[in-house]
Formats: sequence, C-alpha cells, structure tokens
Amino acid sequence: MAKFKLHLFVCVNSRDDEDARGCCAARGSAAVARDFKRKLYERGHKRVVRANKSQCLDQCAFGPVMVVYPEGVWYGRLTPDDVDEIIEKHIEGGQVVERLVIPDEHLTGVDKG
Ligand code: FES
Repeated sequence: MAKFKLHLFVCVNSRDDEDARGCCAARGSAAVARDFKRKLYERGHKRVVRANKSQCLDQCAFGPVMVVYPEGVWYGRLTPDDVDEIIEKHIEGGQVVERLVIPDEHLTGVDKG
C-alpha cells in the first residue's frame, strides 16, 4: 500500500440550485480536481502526492475548496488557473500560496477559543 506524503482533498459536492449554501460543483470544482490529478501525475508525483475528490468539506462559502493534509492548509475560491501555482509553490516548494488560503477565523470547525 502506498504511503503518501500529502493528500489533497478537493470538494466536488453538488447541491440543488435552490439550496442557499451553494456548492463547490456549481463553481467549477470538477475542473479543479481534474487538473490537480492530471498535473500531479504529469509532474511525477504519482504515489507521493494524492489528489482525491471529496464530498462537502463544510467550507461551502469559499468553494471550490481544497484542503492539504497532513498540513491542514485550506484553499478556497480555486480555479483551474491556480493549480500550477499551488503545485509549484506549495507541493514542490513547500511555500503556502497565501492569496488563496482561507483564513482560520473563517473556517468552520476551528476552535476559536
Ligand atoms: S460544498 Fe464544497 S465545501 Fe461544502
């Protein structure tokens, strides 16, 4: 069994148009997930970094959303144009892409003390 260095979970959850929460699928997350999978493979990260599609990650207002584990870095409002930058700077360079990070104070589930 492969032991991955990083897991990327990209929300592709879909909801009815009438649902006030919206969803990542309606904002184009399938293309983001597709591009992460394809580009990680092309750049030689197979079996090292794994991009998985996920259901709702409970950060819907910031969709399309992705979380990188084990670091716990949350990215939001992603587009396919952001994929290369995240791979190059964060996945390969270890530098978080701050302009796309969802601040802790906006994350659902963070203990705000
Ligand atoms: S629908 Fe994507 S985080 Fe909730």
